[in-house]
Amino acid sequence: SDIEKGTYPHYMLKEIDEQPFVIRNIIQQYQNEDGNLKLEESIRQAMKDTDRIYIVACGTSYHAGLVGKQFIEKMAGIPVEVHIASEFCYNMPLLSKKPLFIFISQSGETADSRAVLVQVKKMGYKALTLTNVPGSTLSREADYTLPLYAGPEIAVASTKAYIAQLAVLAILAVDTARAQGLSLDFEPLKELGIVANAIETLCDNKDEMKKIADEFLSTHHNAFFLGRGIDFYVCLEGALKLKEISYIQAEGFAGGELKHGPIALIEKDTPVVALSTQKQLDLNIRGNVKEVVARGANPCIISMEGMENEGDRFTIPAVHEMLTPLVSVVPMQLISYYAALHRGCDVDKPRNLAKSVTVE
Ligand code: AGP
Repeated sequence: SDIEKGTYPHYMLKEIDEQPFVIRNIIQQYQNEDGNLKLEESIRQAMKDTDRIYIVACGTSYHAGLVGKQFIEKMAGIPVEVHIASEFCYNMPLLSKKPLFIFISQSGETADSRAVLVQVKKMGYKALTLTNVPGSTLSREADYTLPLYAGPEIAVASTKAYIAQLAVLAILAVDTARAQGLSLDFEPLKELGIVANAIETLCDNKDEMKKIADEFLSTHHNAFFLGRGIDFYVCLEGALKLKEISYIQAEGFAGGELKHGPIALIEKDTPVVALSTQKQLDLNIRGNVKEVVARGANPCIISMEGMENEGDRFTIPAVHEMLTPLVSVVPMQLISYYAALHRGCDVDKPRNLAKSVTVE
């Protein structure tokens, strides 16, 4: 590839380290001279005109969509459904009267997503693509594009594109809220600046992540990721990251679902990563940790500054409660990276996987 790794042993590590700059670049790109949000008027109008948004994506981009649903529903008050592209294509849900489709795709070339785009365009609907590659197929064939400005992502495991997707979705949600005259107690560009600094702090302190990966994951064949609410979605992403590059069987679970089945899998020393960044869910998720510990699990609690308890393994710097996924995903990325490294896996090119999946 003509993108150089420089002194980095892997593209993945380089791309993780680039994340603070990606966020700062997005802040610049989506800002007018007067400091206000800069978005095409036609996109604003499409967001205003719709009665329901359908987000369609695969893999990590789908996980970003799950968080994006929370942003758009909570800030802009528009109902959002999030669909896996390959499922949507052959099991189309009933559509509302004025649907708007949002495709999220790092590459803009994912065949499953494109198949849905072709279908909904044929039906006469409008589509917006969030992509890292303007000019890609999904960008050209949609009505509107919001670029991610993450720079080329080479590693198969997506990292910086995910946080870019989240940042652009937050900007879109705030802009839509404002266009509808809703007042928000939220300055997105300022809050994203705080996020960039928080990610930088994490990237400057990787030792603890390496330790967790070495002690905790390198000898196991399975791992749990527990979260509630927005943390649950980050757990899905953390588990995907770990499985794709380290080949450890990993699953993200909603804390409350444990007792409905998954807890049967807990054995002595099963690694359980639990994420707690939401004050109103903190007691509940810590209750879930107690349940798995009582069955022998080995817990690793990741909490947020200001919410830490004794025994927490790691604390992320405090950021706005809506934007925690952009920061809490970073320890997950790093733990996966070091676990893969420890197990001698090919981090940038994991077996059986392609960077962009251009077959359905
Ligand atoms: C992420 O780490 C994966 N390799 C994969 O899930 C990816 O996110 C998915 O294939 C979607 O790709 P896209 O964003 O380019 O459409």
